[in-house]
Amino acid sequence: MAETIRVLYSEEEVDKRVRELATRISEDYAGKQVHMICVLKGGVFFMCELAKRITVPVSMDFMSVSSYGDGTSSSGVVKIAKDLDESLEGKDVLIVEDIIDSGRTLSHLIEILERRHPNSMRLCTLLDKPERRVKKVDVNYTGFEIPDEFIVGYGLDYAQKYRNLPYIGIIEGVE
Ligand code: IMP
Ligand code: MG
Repeated sequence: MAETIRVLYSEEEVDKRVRELATRISEDYAGKQVHMICVLKGGVFFMCELAKRITVPVSMDFMSVSSYGDGTSSSGVVKIAKDLDESLEGKDVLIVEDIIDSGRTLSHLIEILERRHPNSMRLCTLLDKPERRVKKVDVNYTGFEIPDEFIVGYGLDYAQKYRNLPYIGIIEGVE
């Protein structure tokens, strides 16, 4: 069976949800500057769309992590492949993720970043698969809670493909 992609959330639906999240974030960070941290590469499309709609001052930084594992599941031992450029000292940090699955990567990443003394740290994810959770993580802003399916588009990949799809889809026909 060939790979096919079934639309889960259309471009319009994602756009509407991103605007709602940006409105909430702008209200919650009133009078502050939000320091957005993008976890590459999956979070990049979401972070840019979200940032454009936030009305309080925004600064951004990027990091890339890989977790040692057997390839199909993450171990939660995070290796920083590209660290942040700036210090987090005293900043109001908002981590922006594409998807939370087991939660292993993120719980370890949060531990690492907490040690850098931010003033506050919150988490925003486009997608959440709660039934897959192994490690508890406190999520402050969630785009959509989704069932346990393999998702592509809007930054998310399957073997590095499909990140550029403007919608969120479920990939079918793969092993
Ligand atoms: P975990 O929460 O440590 O298990 O790992 C989360 C990471 O796995 C995410 O940041 C994604 O990079 C990747 N991932 C998990 N589920 C999916 C999916 O459905 N599509 C694409 N990538 C996924
Ligand atoms: Mg990710």
